[in-house]
Amino acid sequence: MEGVGITVTEHLLIHQKDSPMATGLFTRMFNELIFSAKIIAREVRKAGLVDILGLTGDINVQGEQVRKLDDYANRILIHRMQKAGVLCAMSSEENADIIPVPYNMPKGNYLLIFDPLDGSSNIDANVSIGTIFSIHKKKDGLEEVSVSDFLRSGTEQVAAGYFIYGSSTMLVYTTGNGVNGFTLDPSVGEFLLSHPDIKIPELGRVYSVNESYTMYWDERTRAAVNYFKSSKNERGKPYTSRYIGSLVADFHRNMLYGGIFMYPADNRDPKKPRGKLRLLCEAAPLSFVAEQAGGAATDGEKRILDIEPQSLHERVPLFIGSKRDVEKATAIMQGAE
Ligand code: AHG
Ligand code: MN
Ligand code: MN
Repeated sequence: MEGVGITVTEHLLIHQKDSPMATGLFTRMFNELIFSAKIIAREVRKAGLVDILGLTGDINVQGEQVRKLDDYANRILIHRMQKAGVLCAMSSEENADIIPVPYNMPKGNYLLIFDPLDGSSNIDANVSIGTIFSIHKKKDGLEEVSVSDFLRSGTEQVAAGYFIYGSSTMLVYTTGNGVNGFTLDPSVGEFLLSHPDIKIPELGRVYSVNESYTMYWDERTRAAVNYFKSSKNERGKPYTSRYIGSLVADFHRNMLYGGIFMYPADNRDPKKPRGKLRLLCEAAPLSFVAEQAGGAATDGEKRILDIEPQSLHERVPLFIGSKRDVEKATAIMQGAE
């Protein structure tokens, strides 16, 4: 029927055959995740009108000030996903420890890792922010869940993606068979397929990095960033700089237009020698999406998805986006260019 798009659930069912992930349990989990995002989107949309902006006064495990919308999004996701009956535990960027599903609630063998609200510093300025999620399957029995169940390389993810609360609310995700984008139609309250089979351009024209940290970078990092500032790409086109400061927004733009996002290691904070971004809830899920869309993601040396996490909130330098641009940046970081 013309004009009525395909919902996420229909899309999962249509592709059930080529995605072992699209089982009933997986679909149920996804629907709970989507419902949580719709609630978060509703709060984000009216943030300026109710007392949900500003700081809670708390400091999270990352050592960062918690904003009310961060906290709200975190509580919504934990509350709803605990009841979904499909998870055995969760890990949130905002929580120091893993969040097991209470003993009196139904469990499943999925593990959910999430950044409830990415781009927090932009919340009060009405700039696009997002929610990032990564889904693993617990290998053995459901009884004892521990941190070690979460310390799995990105290649073991069964699904990953993000919601972006921007000019529209979108869901972009992969289950290992390409990347599809869905846009929330508020009039029917459904995410409808709007960007089928997203492919990130192999070569971009955008570089995205916070250049105020130049004085904290090592020589190779400066050389890598300088390449994009002062060279034309392999098609003779100059790069342009874009930096929103919300990883999801910078990443999503590069997914559609092409380009590279870089958050290199810097020596600003001896407690964060590998940079600011988190491996499990930011770099690994977005790297799965990027690779499934034909892009690439490294830590300046090796593939993000091959990194074996050593701790729940491990940080990692991130070079992610158009394949040829990431390869160029990584080669320079390795002194090969
Ligand atoms: P979060 O809001 O989840 O803490 O993430 C913020 C991250 C990411 O969204 C963005 O790319 C980066 O912080 C911006 O950091 P700088 O302000 O240091 O550039
Ligand atoms: Mn984040
Ligand atoms: Mn966050």
